[in-house]
Amino acid sequence: MIPVFEPDIGEEEIEAVAEAIRRGEISGSFGESIPRFEEAFADYCGCEYGIAVSSGSAALQLAVAALDLKPGDEILVSASTNIATALAAYHNNLVPVPVDSEPRTWNLNLDLIEGLITPRTRAIIPVHLFGHPVDMDRLCQIARKHHLAVIEDCAESHGATFRDRKTGSFGEMGCFSFYANKIITTGEGGMITTNNPKLAEKLKLLRNLAFTTPRFRHEIAGYNFRMTGYQAAMGLVQCNKIEKVIAEKIRVAKTYDRFLENVRGLTLPAPANSGRHVYWMYGVAVQPEFGMGRDELQARLREAGIDTRTFFCPMNLQPALQKQSGYRSVKCPVAESLWQTGFYLPSSHTLPEKTIREISETISHIAETSGTKVTA
Ligand SMILES: Cc1ncc(COP(=O)(O)O)c(C=O)c1O
Repeated sequence: MIPVFEPDIGEEEIEAVAEAIRRGEISGSFGESIPRFEEAFADYCGCEYGIAVSSGSAALQLAVAALDLKPGDEILVSASTNIATALAAYHNNLVPVPVDSEPRTWNLNLDLIEGLITPRTRAIIPVHLFGHPVDMDRLCQIARKHHLAVIEDCAESHGATFRDRKTGSFGEMGCFSFYANKIITTGEGGMITTNNPKLAEKLKLLRNLAFTTPRFRHEIAGYNFRMTGYQAAMGLVQCNKIEKVIAEKIRVAKTYDRFLENVRGLTLPAPANSGRHVYWMYGVAVQPEFGMGRDELQARLREAGIDTRTFFCPMNLQPALQKQSGYRSVKCPVAESLWQTGFYLPSSHTLPEKTIREISETISHIAETSGTKVTA
């Protein structure tokens, strides 16, 4: 089976982790690797501060906690995303309000934001979905006008840029995931980036159970969201490789584009209007002209030894989120349609051209035999 993703961990990472363990950097409280990784990654993003945490979910939850909002306040979130984005609001007793997707980029539709703002709206979490950068100029303009804090969900967009700036450097905070399938990984892990020294200080306090003096007497209810030193040691090695990984991700996407552009009924990912799309995963959407539905196509690919994943279930359809007091029902027809029609193909940055060709030819063949013509 060709997997949707394969981690690429080499001897250098293994050696760095082993050395960190030998130095005693087994927890999140000691050693040099964590501050070095934080500095290197923040620097890469063009930010002053990086706060390493235990996952992307923890980064989002902590970033929202740092805003000190009142229970029942509302946070706008992209409808099409991993549930972790909305849970960041949920676990802070806030109401996540989904913003439907834009049909071309699959990111949140900026035209819908102002219509969803109420007197309780305090913040917005745009997701740079699959590595496609959101138009952050326009989003920040709307946010400023309505006094909303911006937390970027960059779990899938390490190194993506809007104009010349990296994602994670536009909002008050940017939240990254270093889960195994992300552009760079520490196995599990995450990072918050910010240019605000007060927020950086607060985030560091909150991630470490809010220890102050005297030790063990706590004024603030914090969290243990620490990253371990040996994870950070791995992150440092991965950080040095990030541009190479992104170049390969773009190569994979452009190769798929070339092989799939003439398959009728398949919508391919849109390129970034302004900036760099990093193609964390290569997603496609199946239209009626394809001649069969997404589920059947996925099943046929599976039979052919090709693993795929559906797009995300939109936040307006998540039963778990409907339990929040103050829940607002919002229709998201575009995100719902993406959930029904979208899926992503094997997208490892190590995928050779030959394999991409094989996968694409299998799709073209299925399209032809389902009655749809390949037009070139
Ligand atoms: C858009 C998005 N946000 C948040 C997360 C959560 O990150 P983690 O799995 O590291 O908790 C993920 C993915 O895993 C994601 O894709």
